Amino acid sequence: MRTAVKPLSEAVKGAACVVLALVAACRADPRGTPPTTTPADFVAPVNVDTTGLPGPVQPVFYRHDVHAGQYKMDCRYCHYAAEVSLHPGMPTMRTCMGCHSIVAGDNPEVQKFRDADLSDPNQSVKWVRVHVLPQFVHFPHMRHVKGAGITCQTCHGPVQEMPRVYQYSSLRMGWCLDCHKKNKVTLDCTACHY
Ligand code: HEC
Ligand code: HEC
Ligand code: HEC
Ligand code: HEC
Ligand code: HEC
Repeated sequence: MRTAVKPLSEAVKGAACVVLALVAACRADPRGTPPTTTPADFVAPVNVDTTGLPGPVQPVFYRHDVHAGQYKMDCRYCHYAAEVSLHPGMPTMRTCMGCHSIVAGDNPEVQKFRDADLSDPNQSVKWVRVHVLPQFVHFPHMRHVKGAGITCQTCHGPVQEMPRVYQYSSLRMGWCLDCHKKNKVTLDCTACHY
């Protein structure tokens, strides 16, 4: 049981700090800018307890911490259109099988897709979307990645360390506007809204 009661002045100071901290948190992401790579000797854990992991469960337990983290595969190897298109692009099964016709064929998660007919789109893995903006919002990847040189991690967090991808940023309008203000980029409603 708590017995000591703080003097009022302390409580006021405490509350002021909380308010100031909140204001600061609104201006800059308190988590800072996440790193874009893992250390050279990074090894993804072999077994992961998936029960507490954030993010949607996927039909195949594809792991970014293994591919982008341990094996240091470039994000653009799979999300090939991030610099040239509104949409970053998703890898086809052919991209996966480029390696998995040889590598890790006995892994139970790889077995889920390694016999898929590559010419039949119906047999490709149906990934569950993690990020979904409302239909009325226009978000061009290439303008941010190529035009402004913003790293994927600034918006998506340290994906290369994630066994399962989750939504790292709020994707709220205020989040967009904060960064646009900081960078003196357009705040015009019609830039983002159709
Ligand atoms: C070997 C291919 C591959 C590489 C390399 C790769 N990804 Fe992915 N990425 C995928 C696949 C497959 C999915 C869908 C399954 C999932 O969400 O985990 C995905 C999903 C994502 C998503 C969530 C998409 C959504 O639905 O909103 C983000 C964000 C993402 N990747 C970012 C990255 C970043 C950043 C990197 C580099 C650090 C990277 N990826 C490297 C294959 C790859
Ligand atoms: C450039 C080569 C390469 C590509 C492309 C690739 N992988 Fe992998 N993948 C690997 C390697 C290497 C491992 C680790 C094998 C090991 O440690 O035994 C792995 C491991 C895996 C595993 C097992 C994960 C675990 O538990 O360790 C799955 C599932 C997987 N990959 C799915 C995919 C999917 C889906 C794609 C396409 C989106 C893909 N991979 C593309 C090289 C690749
Ligand atoms: C300025 C912030 C920002 C940056 C930088 C950024 N993204 Fe995104 N990303 C988003 C937003 C917002 C969405 C949701 C878009 C939507 O729903 O239309 C998204 C969606 C995605 C998706 C899912 C797309 C789909 O069609 O399912 C992938 C994959 C992805 N990003 C990968 C990347 C990669 C890889 C990079 C770096 C090369 C990157 N992003 C850089 C904000 C960003
Ligand atoms: C981390 C910073 C950052 C975030 C977060 C961000 N943007 Fe941007 N955005 C920029 C920068 C910088 C540019 C200017 C790119 C250039 O110079 O080509 C830009 C440009 C744009 C453009 C093109 C504007 C034009 O002049 O045509 C649109 C549209 C846009 N952003 C929409 C969004 C939306 C929607 C979101 C939120 C879902 C968002 N942005 C989040 C930094 C950001
Ligand atoms: C930089 C991009 C950007 C600009 C500029 C922008 N918005 Fe938005 N807006 C968004 C995003 C992203 C969402 C969806 C997420 C959310 O609801 O916060 C949104 C959502 C909305 C919504 C729906 C809110 C809800 O709760 O459903 C309205 C209304 C809106 N915007 C009006 C405006 C008006 C008016 C302007 C100009 C003064 C404007 N927006 C400028 C990105 C932008």
